[in-house]
Amino acid sequence: MDRKALVVGNWKMQLSYKGELELARALKNLLRGVTVTADIVVCPSFAALEAVGEVFKNSDKVELGAQGIFGEEKGAFTGQVSVLQISSLVRWCIVGHSEQRAVYRLTDGDVQRQADLALKHGLVPIICVGETAEERATEQTVKKITEQVTGLLQKLTRASFSKLVVAYEPVWAIGSGEQPDPNDISAILLLIRKLITERFDRQASDRVRLLYGGSVTPDTVGLFVSEPGVDGVLVGGASTHPNQFVDILKKVQAAHVSEAT
Ligand code: PGA
Repeated sequence: MDRKALVVGNWKMQLSYKGELELARALKNLLRGVTVTADIVVCPSFAALEAVGEVFKNSDKVELGAQGIFGEEKGAFTGQVSVLQISSLVRWCIVGHSEQRAVYRLTDGDVQRQADLALKHGLVPIICVGETAEERATEQTVKKITEQVTGLLQKLTRASFSKLVVAYEPVWAIGSGEQPDPNDISAILLLIRKLITERFDRQASDRVRLLYGGSVTPDTVGLFVSEPGVDGVLVGGASTHPNQFVDILKKVQAAHVSEAT
């Protein structure tokens, strides 16, 4: 099955408002000279969403995503952002990023609810799963990923499941410069696809795009995306450097073309 490659940049809270606009403009300029065959999504801060959206308004190359949403549509939740407040600005939404799970103590149930809300309001959730360093050390990786994905499979319908994206992001690999062996990434993505096939069918699992995330750089991305079943990457740190992000994009596109042929 030929799935379109996907490259997502998660800008986190790394830049000032002005810095985010400069990054958006630089990225737009760099992309002028690039033939884009992948879907590109950037996820700025909530504060800069609208302004970054303006920068990319006439671009058919870059779409916007949110870094997360709260698990309720409205109410007395100080400091949180509802899907209703951003659904006109973005088409994508990261859900269950490990930093959100850690800081806001999100449970798998919360992540399932947020994914459901994103889908209900027409956004494509990019759902993050992954094991911690401790779980890895005690060989709990397969158990952890199975639990996280099975929970989602129970909550979401077949139709909605085939619209979303799952990103395998080992928590210990995020921002650390460490990465799993490319074979291990491929094995985990295969496990995720197998769980989807078992719950629904091959057609549904074939449609889901699976990403890898965690310390992806232009130097390392080639190793990951050349593995079978890797449809793209979720990039943190390197996505705030426009040249690096575009280099990553080019390498993902090149690998995807050679995989499809
Ligand atoms: P990183 O972040 O690329 O800086 O490791 C990835 C992520 O948090 O999604």
